[in-house]
Amino acid sequence: MERIATTRELQARADAERAAGRRIALVPTMGALHAGHRSLVETARAHADLVWVSIFVNPAQFNESADFEGYPAELDADLEACEADGVDLVFLPKREELYPEGFQTWVEVEDLTQPLCGASRPGHFRGVTTVVSKLFLAAKPHVAVFGEKDYQQLAAVRRMARDLGFDVEVIGSPTLREADGLALSSRNVHLGPEARRQAVVLARALEAAEHALAAGERDAAALLAAAQIELAKAPGAEVEYCELRCPETLATLAGPLCAPALLALAVHFPADPDGRGARVRLIDNRLLDPREARVRGGDRAPIAISLEERP
Ligand code: PAF
Repeated sequence: MERIATTRELQARADAERAAGRRIALVPTMGALHAGHRSLVETARAHADLVWVSIFVNPAQFNESADFEGYPAELDADLEACEADGVDLVFLPKREELYPEGFQTWVEVEDLTQPLCGASRPGHFRGVTTVVSKLFLAAKPHVAVFGEKDYQQLAAVRRMARDLGFDVEVIGSPTLREADGLALSSRNVHLGPEARRQAVVLARALEAAEHALAAGERDAAALLAAAQIELAKAPGAEVEYCELRCPETLATLAGPLCAPALLALAVHFPADPDGRGARVRLIDNRLLDPREARVRGGDRAPIAISLEERP
């Protein structure tokens, strides 16, 4: 497995691979790789000859410096995981490589990044779309893979790629889940045992709305109420948002649903059993399709994986 640290070297490599007719898939990551990332690599492999992974903890997308400084750095384990998964190349830029002295050029998707996570994390998506643009320019991939769990990020990157004319197909990869339904996330390791137990309400809330839909309910407020009833069962849960949105524009939906709708959740849990101190913010989502009267979105069946598990 090759390692490259500079944009110039990666661009030369991409040019050579493209000239040889090989398709490149890029999986952008911030490291701390878990089974969810492995599934992104698997999706990438199905769409290209070469799978390239970037590992870069992007300072521009953190709202709080403590979050950035506390972000897990596990480079050796990450490289082992990439090697084991047959990744062809890892891009490991240093901060100065992507944000040179005096950096002042940003890529911002305006409307899509305002609601949901954008409302509580100002500047976050601007940091994401800026770094992803730089990664696209460096790796020149034919396809790039992002997790569907971060739905708004996926939507913003797709919009950015379209608006700026990047010749990249942006692919969403289905959310992987623990046996009880909790979506895999690097943040799950910060949940104490009690918060971990309660965190299952996110998946249950999505299921409750899905069941209400399957039973014939179409009213947006009633579907949201079904989800909220489940969320309220976790005493430690502080709901940041529980909303039905248009999957394309992320505009709020109300009244009877007649087209697919995104049910999106963000919920905070106390990291410590006493409820004080840091809180862990979890997100999840599901696409509900009233036309099929059953759930779309293609989440894979729950799998039992320990978050500590490495390939
Ligand atoms: O999803 C992530 O890990 C990050 O937001 C990404 C896409 C790698 C950009 O830094």
